[in-house]
Amino acid sequence: MYSFKNDYSEGAHPRILNALLETNLVQDEGYGEDRYSKEAMELIKEKIRNHDVDIHFISGGTQTNLIAISAFLRPHEAAIAVSSGHILGHETGAIEATGHKILSVEGKDGKLSPADLQGVLDGHPDEHMVKPKLVYISNSTEIGSIYSKSELQELHDFCQRNQLILYMDGARLGSALCSEENDLHLSDLPNLVDAFYIGGTKNGALIGEALVICRDSLKEDFRYHIKQKGALLAKGRLMGIQFFELFRDNLFFDLATHANQMAGRIKDELEKAEVKFLTHSPSNQIFPILPNAVITELQSNYAFHVWEKVDSDSSAIRLVTSWATSEEEVISFIEELKRELI
Ligand SMILES: Cc1ncc(COP(=O)(O)O)c(C=O)c1O
Repeated sequence: MYSFKNDYSEGAHPRILNALLETNLVQDEGYGEDRYSKEAMELIKEKIRNHDVDIHFISGGTQTNLIAISAFLRPHEAAIAVSSGHILGHETGAIEATGHKILSVEGKDGKLSPADLQGVLDGHPDEHMVKPKLVYISNSTEIGSIYSKSELQELHDFCQRNQLILYMDGARLGSALCSEENDLHLSDLPNLVDAFYIGGTKNGALIGEALVICRDSLKEDFRYHIKQKGALLAKGRLMGIQFFELFRDNLFFDLATHANQMAGRIKDELEKAEVKFLTHSPSNQIFPILPNAVITELQSNYAFHVWEKVDSDSSAIRLVTSWATSEEEVISFIEELKRELI
């Protein structure tokens, strides 16, 4: 059985494990004040080309989202998210449990636009309703689409004009930035969003996300927020070491490029076989629509999510490739799928 279920089915890239092993017996400070975390922060700041940002390593995506969003918002303020957004459907009400409503918008292709945001603002005119304050987007999105620089610039401008905070969930930021269709650079982000995170967990790290806070007013006391939510790890060095390894050269981007290429291979072959896709997703998640009988056959050898029923005979499945997906596995999968389609 081979799994295309997600990009965290494997452990970590061997270089990361080696780095953890090599530094294992070195004594250092706890709670992220160690040399590795500090050096990793410097490396990331260099890649972002901005030394004014604050960086915090947090162990997972849900935890990062809930700590950031609850820290950034005042009690009566709410977040806005597209209806497919991860914080709405897959985080067990974690944001709501911090006391903040999430206002859901339909959006398009998993993305939000200024017109969507205007609709929410129009619908929340006064103090008898929550105040929309933070815009949550993810890149890549829940359905594998990516934001272009101009789309993000438009969101940024709208948020500036309307005193909204723009927050980007980057659980799969590597895949988005390494997409063939991407025109955004990591270094553009501090000029376009108020805070974002760089996902390590889904891109070769054992565990960890790097939250980057760009807007000064959001930085104050952030370590207090992390600690109060139980996420300031005594062995914070574990994340520092991993991000140092990912960013000391091009490893972070190489791994994401590989994952995208593997998804691209499957997509190209399926398109040749005239398979349709649920959505345009130029990243490491693809959603081919297949006859239900073919899906059942494939499930004997492959694990994947059946994403959505399309009609009575067919459904869209989600295939996710990772930094560790091998070309051999991709080729076998394509061959088997082609056999089933005949
Ligand atoms: C876009 C996005 N954000 C956040 C998360 C949550 O991450 P975690 O499972 O580490 O809490 C995920 C996980 O799949 C995700 O895809």
